[in-house]
Amino acid sequence: RKDIGRITCGSTALDELIGGGIETQSITEVFGEFGSGKSQISHELAVTVQLPEEKGGLEAECVFIDTENTFRPERIEQIAGGFELDNEEVLQKIHIARAFNSSHQILMADKINELIQSGTNIKLVIVDSLTAHFRAEYVGRETLATRQQKLNQHLHTLQNIANTYNVAVFVTNQVQARPDAFFGSPTKAVGGHVLGHAATYRIWLKKGLAGKRIARLVDSPHLPEGESVFKIVTEGIVD
Ligand code: GTP
Repeated sequence: RKDIGRITCGSTALDELIGGGIETQSITEVFGEFGSGKSQISHELAVTVQLPEEKGGLEAECVFIDTENTFRPERIEQIAGGFELDNEEVLQKIHIARAFNSSHQILMADKINELIQSGTNIKLVIVDSLTAHFRAEYVGRETLATRQQKLNQHLHTLQNIANTYNVAVFVTNQVQARPDAFFGSPTKAVGGHVLGHAATYRIWLKKGLAGKRIARLVDSPHLPEGESVFKIVTEGIVD
């Protein structure tokens, strides 16, 4: 794989955990319980992708597929302020797509090709949340196979975009907290087999003490498992 680009998560420790920031041509999945910071990292990346390369960005724009109405322009303003970027300019480079259901979400991913082909310099696609609509719509054992198949198809589309246009894909996945999950396989705990195979990098977020967050890299083919600690502050994600 050539010309891989990297985007900083805002925290050096978190970047180092995943080999220097999230990668183009890959899908990075972040999973964890509610409030663990998945949407916060999504917002951070929507800003940092716009930074010049020497500051950890790709000087590019992004698509933010928002499925639960979690996108907050005022949060972007705070993060942009931390980097001394102009908020209006930053917001213009975040292409928000609100997905009302899973079919709509799939359709929006399919349309990213058109946006890129029309000349928009997209280097990051965020899907927050990847799984919420699918979980809500396909309930019960008998629908599980269909759900997995649809989700796989969706991830396949995203991986294609990543490969074809040298784009980074970042997806979030809410999972239940389990006291014993620290030692077990989170993949199994969340029924996330589909994702486990599709995402190149999987980051498990946990809440720590005093507002800290712990990120653990799991199931990564190239990097050692490990943990790092970061914080969420007004300016976004920091060490
Ligand atoms: P769900 O979307 O509910 O699945 O959770 P999530 O993992 O996406 O959580 P999210 O990223 O929204 O994190 C929420 C947490 O981020 C809050 O509990 C706060 O601790 C922190 N947070 C959010 N906004 C701010 C902010 O403006 N300042 C600070 N200091 N912390 C914030």
